[in-house]
Amino acid sequence: MTTQKATNIKWHHGKISRDDRVNLMKQKGGTIWLTGLSGSGKSTIAVELEHALIENKHQAYILDGDNIRHGLNKNLGFSPEDRSENIRRIGEVAKLFTDANIITITAFISPYRQDRDNARKLFQAGEFIEIYIKCPLEVCEQRDTKGLYKKARKGEVKEFTGISAPYEEPLNPELTIDTSKMSIEESTRTIIAYLEEKGYVKF
Ligand code: ADX
Repeated sequence: MTTQKATNIKWHHGKISRDDRVNLMKQKGGTIWLTGLSGSGKSTIAVELEHALIENKHQAYILDGDNIRHGLNKNLGFSPEDRSENIRRIGEVAKLFTDANIITITAFISPYRQDRDNARKLFQAGEFIEIYIKCPLEVCEQRDTKGLYKKARKGEVKEFTGISAPYEEPLNPELTIDTSKMSIEESTRTIIAYLEEKGYVKF
């Protein structure tokens, strides 16, 4: 775990409670943590889900691995340590967005169970919804939307998840979605149904 470096700092409380935001926004914020191999469909589902939520007047926002690595996490690569730091920072950012009562959708491979569990610990019960975007490696490799599996097989991309770096499947995710069997529309509907059932949104 990352230790606290700064001393002489004190938490400053605001006047707005979480309930105030829930009443104002007519939704309950939470983090939908999508995890799975590259090419499994995380980003595609995130985009569809965000679109469906916004169309229904809910506030949603995507934090996507490829995008965040262009900015906040541009100093991180794909070593186990850098991936852990990537997920630690995103866990903290997602916590802030959730505190702002946004439906936050994260799309990161997040291959290590421990890193995902550490992120979960930052949240209140029920506010961290881990969704395993399951897809056999062979199918992801066949899709190869970014051409990275081909490069990884040739050794041109090192430490590639599923080929030369591990992916640890979730043991108790809130939901599992198999994108080799389910369409993007069905996948999105399944997630929305879960959010409705748990009282995060109303459609
Ligand atoms: S994570 O493992 O740290 O969670 P993250 O989701 O941020 O990864 O980034 C994964 C994306 O980076 C992939 O979708 C792919 O486009 C790209 N990428 C580049 N190199 C690698 C690599 N060695 N392993 C996995 N993904 C990589």
